[in-house]
Amino acid sequence: MPAISQKGQNMPSSPIRKLVPFAEKAYKANKTVFHLNIGQPDIKSPQLAMDAVANHNLEILAYTRSEGSEPYRAKIADYHKRNHIMVEADNIIVTTGGSEALLFAMGSVADTGDEIIIPEPFYANYNGFATASGVNIVPVISKIEDNFALPPIQEFEKLITPKTKAILICNPGNPTGYLYSKEEIKILAEIVKKHDLFLIADEVYREFTYDNLKHYSILEEEGLDQNAIIIDSVSKRYSMCGARIGCIVSKNKEVMSAAMKFAQARLSPPTFAQIASEAALNTPQSYFDEVIVEYKERRDTLIEKLEEIPGVQVGHPKGAFYCIAQLPIKNSDAFAQWLLEEFDVDGETIMVAPAAGFYSSPGVGLNQIRIAYVLNKESLIKAVNILKKALEVYKD
Ligand SMILES: Cc1ncc(COP(=O)(O)O)c(C=O)c1O
Repeated sequence: MPAISQKGQNMPSSPIRKLVPFAEKAYKANKTVFHLNIGQPDIKSPQLAMDAVANHNLEILAYTRSEGSEPYRAKIADYHKRNHIMVEADNIIVTTGGSEALLFAMGSVADTGDEIIIPEPFYANYNGFATASGVNIVPVISKIEDNFALPPIQEFEKLITPKTKAILICNPGNPTGYLYSKEEIKILAEIVKKHDLFLIADEVYREFTYDNLKHYSILEEEGLDQNAIIIDSVSKRYSMCGARIGCIVSKNKEVMSAAMKFAQARLSPPTFAQIASEAALNTPQSYFDEVIVEYKERRDTLIEKLEEIPGVQVGHPKGAFYCIAQLPIKNSDAFAQWLLEEFDVDGETIMVAPAAGFYSSPGVGLNQIRIAYVLNKESLIKAVNILKKALEVYKD
């Protein structure tokens, strides 16, 4: 038998998707499953994006330019300027989702065996992108007890080696909902400038901030143009996960020309999806205002209900639409599987994401789960009630 590569063997399965076969079993047993495991919003995509595709007048579904269509990039630059990020179309390469932007960014700044420091817990697929890129993730631990605040600078500096190429943050954070303050971004800016590193910020949840807190982008920070790389996406912003459109944004010309070579190798981002995403940029602010009110109410309901369960500790999200909950159990992998295979309340159960996959430190997060609040409030209340009842009877 031909052998699978070491890299193929090392690729981690997504903790968000690996329980799918057990969910299938639950459906077959006629159970209703509340999906708290995946960040697929139930909010409708903007109608104008759907209409733009329906009303297209293309005769050939051709490739676009590797860096993305010109009018779309120009409109993305305008969008960023409205958000105090002063970039031009040249500073933007359109990608197939934020996922590809992450791959291009890692590929452009790090070689095999190089290191990227990431506060953990972090978006689980960073593990997959790092493995695919041959990059080692060096985690800096942020703790639920501190509500996942930025660890002290000394913690970063202790981890910097000659192989360190970048610090990667997710702001607002998936899975923690953590929103970095302006002061924290300034601290990170000082570290990367002092040590000549890149600062990569995954800002795909930029719009989703609560309690009147404002997102502060790394490209708003003066003097960081050569270090800063933003990862962006339409997936969550416009509830358009299936479009598969994102972008990489940087004012560093060398980064952009390296990323451009990766972009050329895969020819072009999807054409219809760029048409939809360009139209989505005309979405009125009122869309976001409504969506944010909805998410905030969901967050408040979720956190309140979770905190009523004995032994459960929850990080308080200030942005995005996820939280980490620490449960009075030993192994959330087994618990999540048991919920699907063996437990239900009147034919209903829940699917959660075990949090260990959001850490790269072995043995950390084993008693935690990530919850995505992408369901309406009634469903969330039912789902947390199922969790509560499950914890009353579960033995691990
Ligand atoms: C933090 C973060 N970054 C990037 C992505 C990738 O999203 P996409 O490839 O759909 O743009 C996701 C998706 O869930 C995410 O949560």
